[in-house]
Amino acid sequence: MNTYGLGGKVAVITGGASGIGRACAHTLARSGADISIWDLDRGGLDLVIKELEDYDYRVHSAVVDVSDSAVVDAAMQDVLDTLGHVDIAVCNAGIGGAAASSADYTDEQWRQVTGVNLDGVFFTQRAAIRAMRHGGRGGSIINMASVLGSVGFASASAYTAAKHGVVGLTQVAAWECAADQIRINAVGPGFIRTPLLDDNLDQETLDVLAGQHALQRLGEAAEVAELVAWLASDGASFATGTFYPIDGGYLAR
Ligand SMILES: NC(=O)c1ccc[n+]([C@@H]2O[C@H](COP(=O)([O-])OP(=O)(O)OC[C@H]3O[C@@H](n4cnc5c(N)ncnc54)[C@H](O)[C@@H]3O)[C@@H](O)[C@H]2O)c1
Repeated sequence: MNTYGLGGKVAVITGGASGIGRACAHTLARSGADISIWDLDRGGLDLVIKELEDYDYRVHSAVVDVSDSAVVDAAMQDVLDTLGHVDIAVCNAGIGGAAASSADYTDEQWRQVTGVNLDGVFFTQRAAIRAMRHGGRGGSIINMASVLGSVGFASASAYTAAKHGVVGLTQVAAWECAADQIRINAVGPGFIRTPLLDDNLDQETLDVLAGQHALQRLGEAAEVAELVAWLASDGASFATGTFYPIDGGYLAR
């Protein structure tokens, strides 16, 4: 596994208690970044902090519901007060939501999924842009979309719409923030073996999904974290406004 030369940088990771966010915390901390992990799950945050205790880094954590902008803004201020600045934001927290056809999706289901997966990314990105502008050090924001930010998937209307929205808000903000040396990109994982999949799908469905990738397997959270860490690093200095699939060939059809 690579390290990405992130010493001296502070990274905020939402959804950091599980899955892809947890893997990002590992990879960014191993690369030298100080970490602030946010999640609804206090116990999960504490476990991740314990896993990372061998790394030489400072840590901050907060119980945050990313769909509540006031809570997001307060948490970002707390990171500034505790760690001094923000250089990297991984806007990753997300939920799968109900599986139902577009005709049957309820108002409540739609609002729940878009509230976390679209509003939550927008609120975190907005707070990060403000913090980075205030710091005057530039920065890198990585928004977690999905392959479903690019194509459709039957029974996932709200999730697919939210992920397409994440790609769009990434492109807009990249143009708006380029002069501040803030790069903003979206990442599009294929289907990744995390609790989001394992808790909701049976083995037969997981096998069918695996077969839809050219590599004939599901991805690992650590493989997504490698791309996130590269985008966070100075090595990605010409990367902004782009949607980066990391999908084992899912979209290559
Ligand atoms: N697993 C996949 O196949 C896959 C594929 C493409 C994209 N993604 C995206 O990656 C991101 C992470 O997913 P994952 O697979 O690691 O899922 P996960 O369920 O393992 O982790 C998601 C984390 O987000 C937290 N969270 C949920 N709602 C929150 C809220 N309102 N505020 C703060 N934290 C909240 C959860 O507590 C959990 O710890 C999501 O945005 C998801 O849409 C996942």
